Amino acid sequence: MSSRSHLAALLVAPAAFTLTVVIAARADVGAAAAQSRSSGWTLPQNAADEKSPLADSPEIVAKGKKIFESKCRHCHGATGVGNGPDADPDHPPGDLTDGRRASRNPDGVMFYKIWNGRRDPKMPAFKTDISREDVWTVIQYVKTLRR
Ligand code: HEC
Repeated sequence: MSSRSHLAALLVAPAAFTLTVVIAARADVGAAAAQSRSSGWTLPQNAADEKSPLADSPEIVAKGKKIFESKCRHCHGATGVGNGPDADPDHPPGDLTDGRRASRNPDGVMFYKIWNGRRDPKMPAFKTDISREDVWTVIQYVKTLRR
């Protein structure tokens, strides 16, 4: 091997390695069932089309309020404005009372935001904590907080 081609090999090897790592990382994201990570949330492509299996009723709202108070209130605050004691002042939880957010948070989108959580700003993933039905239940309550 001439010293020139030896040098080329030295330059190419790390580049090839980097490329492999990038491809591997991409494959990983793809494997997550075509989920979008835009704006830090993990949402399936058709999240917005997913409908709540629950009928709208005062009983469901009352049950949702209990879930909210035990699981969400410490960050989102008693009225949902985002001022709970565990809210990070630098990255406050979204204002759930803001009616203008409703259009970008159809039920199905809210479901996956709550189900999968978010890394930064941090919201825990509730899929390991509460059932799917409980998530749909708390959504019913959260919608009553909107102005
Ligand atoms: C550790 C604090 C924390 C807890 C607990 C928490 N959240 Fe959040 N939540 C956040 C943060 C932070 C955001 C992101 C705010 C942003 O969009 O920048 C967020 C965002 C959201 C959003 C999306 C708002 C939007 O307009 O995009 C919804 C809906 C939501 N939370 C509902 C809930 C519900 C329901 C619970 C309880 C089951 C809950 N959260 C528990 C911190 C929390």
